[in-house]
Amino acid sequence: MDLFDKLLSDKGALGQYSFLDEDVNYYFFPKLEGEIQPRMKFKGQEVLAWSLNNYLGLANHPEIRKTDADAAKEWGLGYPMGARMMTGNSDLHDQLEQELADFVSKPTGMLLNYGYQGIMSVIDALVDRKDVVVYDAECHACIIDALRMHIGKRYVFPHNDIENCERQLKRAEKLANEQGGGVLVITEGVFGMSGNTGNLAAIAELKKKYKFRLLVDDAHGFGTMGETGAGTGEHHGVQDEIDIYFSTFAKSMASIGAFIAGPTEIINHLRYKVRSQIYAKSLPMPLVVGGLKRLDMLRTMPELREKLWTIVNAIQGGFRERGFNIGTTNSPVTPVVLNGEVLEACNMVVDLRENFKIFCSMIVYPVVPKGMVILRIIPTAMHTLEDVELTLNAFDTIKTKLDDGVYREAGVEGAMLAKT
Ligand SMILES: Cc1ncc(COP(=O)(O)O)c(C=O)c1O
Repeated sequence: MDLFDKLLSDKGALGQYSFLDEDVNYYFFPKLEGEIQPRMKFKGQEVLAWSLNNYLGLANHPEIRKTDADAAKEWGLGYPMGARMMTGNSDLHDQLEQELADFVSKPTGMLLNYGYQGIMSVIDALVDRKDVVVYDAECHACIIDALRMHIGKRYVFPHNDIENCERQLKRAEKLANEQGGGVLVITEGVFGMSGNTGNLAAIAELKKKYKFRLLVDDAHGFGTMGETGAGTGEHHGVQDEIDIYFSTFAKSMASIGAFIAGPTEIINHLRYKVRSQIYAKSLPMPLVVGGLKRLDMLRTMPELREKLWTIVNAIQGGFRERGFNIGTTNSPVTPVVLNGEVLEACNMVVDLRENFKIFCSMIVYPVVPKGMVILRIIPTAMHTLEDVELTLNAFDTIKTKLDDGVYREAGVEGAMLAKT
């Protein structure tokens, strides 16, 4: 069989819905245009956007824009050329990773070019065939993909289920001891779909009974959680128990890149082992200079985080008061969980965008179980209480219509019509 024919015979979990879009970039690959802020343009119309992880509003902050532009002018996008280990290093790269480490209270940091590739490679470098990994079932795709590469054993525990986690740890410790390996536990600070924080305190407590190291992906927690914004470990008072702290720059930092931070000798050891860094060009200088500026603002402008939480509390409180199911989130991520089939979800999203001018992301089967729809709201420091009110009122209306079966009747054709 021809490889390409075979490939096309199964469109995959997400591709199966591509027929809905007919190349109009409505549900998939939509194009939000204009300055990054709550009001952006979608298909020529202004919408209130709730789907950008620009938690602190740094993406378009005038000082950040200026720093980025000045750095691009001064350095260009090429410098430094080569991998960090060879010719791609600079004092500013060193400075940024050390400042990041200091901020999350770890001795040493290491920059990664991207979160996804970086963490895959970090996990690959941390464990070998003798080591056993124990991880939360709802970990991000980058962790799942890293574990696909892991040639040793891996044991999964149901999301935040500490009893089960302990059972897996018991098995893992036994096997690792037999094989002469160690145990790595991986979880997230904030889970990006549910908004639940990882049960970090309970996992840290298990360190008293079992020997393992803890890696936490805090992509959504960095800058948003904890008294100083140092993340979910700080929020739960267990930052010291995190052995390797990871975050991307793709959320609160509103940029590209990522980092890990941990004990000096381990991070220095990893510098010679993390293949995504050794065999790839280092971060361009404007991203490093921009990273230093973002970190500085994140550290010195707590008002941004306070504003974010004002919006988070208003919208989550509003949803709960109005009887919406937003699960058990205890972070800014706000999933509005509704009952409906995929086509109803599409119609509802069209209604939201076209008639209420609200843009948020829709999550359907197979990412969530059949019959469930999640409209995910990401509050930011740039939203206003008026935005919150407008959105709560719109959601009241669409939920009533959903429950009354209105979106079932419209059918997908209605949706296609509505949007063209
Ligand atoms: C939990 C989590 N980890 C890792 C990543 C990947 O980071 P990046 O976008 O820098 O590749 C993301 C998404 O950005 C994420 O949500």
